[in-house]
Amino acid sequence: MDGRIAVLASGVGSNLQALIDDQFCGQRIALVVSDQPNARALERARDARIETAVVEFGSFPDREAFSAAIVEILVAHEITHVALAGFMRILSPAFVEAFQGRILNVHPSLLPAFPGANAVQAALDHGVKVTGVTVHLVTAELDGGPIVLQEAIPILRYDNADALEVRINELEHRLFRVALRVLIQGRIQVHGRRAMIEE
Ligand code: GAR
Repeated sequence: MDGRIAVLASGVGSNLQALIDDQFCGQRIALVVSDQPNARALERARDARIETAVVEFGSFPDREAFSAAIVEILVAHEITHVALAGFMRILSPAFVEAFQGRILNVHPSLLPAFPGANAVQAALDHGVKVTGVTVHLVTAELDGGPIVLQEAIPILRYDNADALEVRINELEHRLFRVALRVLIQGRIQVHGRRAMIEE
């Protein structure tokens, strides 16, 4: 089968679950890696009988060594594609190079607005009327790679972070698996900053 996916996740893992439940992606997930030993995402992986690995940031002197340790595990598992599903660590340029064009990230805002952590709250605090979800290829620039899929969500008058996050998560679950599928099928063409999906 084409494509052996590693999913990297730090938290609850609802995006991981959406990938597991997807017919195309689910059967290709070979490994779940977390930097948090108690991440709910690891439990979800075990429930689905997917191999897991824990790589704690604090066990390494710097980001480079931390990222290199993950690359080593991914290579040992013959991973071809990497899905960042709520992975809250920045990976080194060497990591990005090792899987160039084959790393996908899901982000809870309309990038380039609100990159980094706490994007849902940042959008609310800023008072924007529209936010959304971005799925993009990962480059060395934080949350700056070519956008594969992006969809907007209106912010309602009495929204709070919890309510908005529910709608954002639902949209993430829908977009992430589609983007990962087309990536594995080799249907994403990148021209400069623009990523285009072949029909
Ligand atoms: C998701 O909303 C994802 O977009 C976000 O973390 C959440 C993880 O949820 N990622 C980032 O903010 C990355 N900058 P999950 O653990 O339920 O999939």
